[in-house]
Amino acid sequence: MVRYKGHVEALLPVFPLATEIGPRAHLRIGGCDTVEMAAQFGTPLYVFDEFTLRTKCRELRREFTSRYPNSLIIYASKAFTNPALAAILAEEGMGLDVVSGGELAVAQRVKFPARDVYFHGNNKTREEMEQALDFGIGRVVVDGFHELQLLNEVARQNNTNQDILLRISPGVDPHTHAHITTGVLDSKFGFPLANGQAEEALRQALCTSNLNLVGLHCHIGSQVFETEPYRRAVEVMLRFAAEMRRKHGFELMEFSPGGGFGVQYMHDAPAPPIARYAEVIISAVLELSRELGLTPPKLIVEPGRSVVAQAGVALYTVGSIKDIPEVRKYVSLDGGMGDNIRPALYDARYEAVVANKADAPARERVTLAGRFCESGDVLVKDAMLPAVEPGNIVAIPVSGAYALTMASNYNNVPRPAIVLVRDGAARLIRRRETYEDMMARERV
Ligand SMILES: Cc1ncc(COP(=O)(O)O)c(C=O)c1O
Repeated sequence: MVRYKGHVEALLPVFPLATEIGPRAHLRIGGCDTVEMAAQFGTPLYVFDEFTLRTKCRELRREFTSRYPNSLIIYASKAFTNPALAAILAEEGMGLDVVSGGELAVAQRVKFPARDVYFHGNNKTREEMEQALDFGIGRVVVDGFHELQLLNEVARQNNTNQDILLRISPGVDPHTHAHITTGVLDSKFGFPLANGQAEEALRQALCTSNLNLVGLHCHIGSQVFETEPYRRAVEVMLRFAAEMRRKHGFELMEFSPGGGFGVQYMHDAPAPPIARYAEVIISAVLELSRELGLTPPKLIVEPGRSVVAQAGVALYTVGSIKDIPEVRKYVSLDGGMGDNIRPALYDARYEAVVANKADAPARERVTLAGRFCESGDVLVKDAMLPAVEPGNIVAIPVSGAYALTMASNYNNVPRPAIVLVRDGAARLIRRRETYEDMMARERV
């Protein structure tokens, strides 16, 4: 007799690596029962699996350094950051990409090795630059002409000589969503190559008194499923470096093709393995360096999503259910766009399961709506689930990246708690926000 496997089994590949179906048909992550965690810590609850996090870091480091030893993998904090995560990343030998004084403060809190912290952003403030230089930050990735002058001034006042990279917009389209496309001419990020501004920035950077230009950076976009755009970006950037050596005596010591590696959100849309991105980027760097007579530079890659997305699962409790016969059945959850704006922002799609009925077959098509006062607050449209009742726990996988970091207090709803699971133990790494937390800044 064939045992029916239930609706969760087919979706296990998008859950953290340490996910299984445990006693009472409860979904278990990192040896912890998700239904019990929901009861203990409340919902919405974000669960991060430490084993998956560490495995992803090791895979990234292995795939790049085994092919190209002079590589550094820096994690893009914007995907998700907090001190507990940053401490794990430091233990795993990762570097860090920060884009604000706040992300930098997380690095400072855990005494992250400063030399491996890179400071990005298209509008860094003077205060943030001072904070970064006081910390002894490894590199500042300069994004515009104003920043070039301001940073030089801050470095001069600080009596330091700051290593920098220039962020270049290489004009390569990665074929991803427009909101997460960054390396084309019409972008707020970086110095465009096509109109000569990249060359002008490089010329100016070489003339500054307190900045030391060590390399070039580009980032073409996020959730990039094709590898060819990376090859093109490497080619465009290294040809530019060779031209700048000839014209201005510039030596490319470091090169970063950014992050953006795709991850699998849906059961039928697998992403390329990290090895494929590594192979394409590294073979292009080696071939072009040889062709152009460049010394192969130190390679910096900046993955965010591909480190944390799969490690995170969001747990919600089902509340109201509204059935509109022949139209749609809305199942409302106790979270939504306040903790995960991706579906509303750029039509991101997710799978979902009922964590307390993991062995039940999926029999119903429902729409998982959030609790926020926007019709667009829908987390999953047309999810296939077992019969859902109020009080059930819904788990949404691949919630580790760009959910919590974009969370808001819309409708004055407190933001969720986060637990880290490992070997059957769940550790609270961020407590749930309270009304007192939110009121603490208010004045009457
Ligand atoms: C400069 C830069 N580096 C790295 C990343 C990380 O991208 P991802 O999380 O898609 O790997 C981003 C995200 O947009 C970015 O802007």
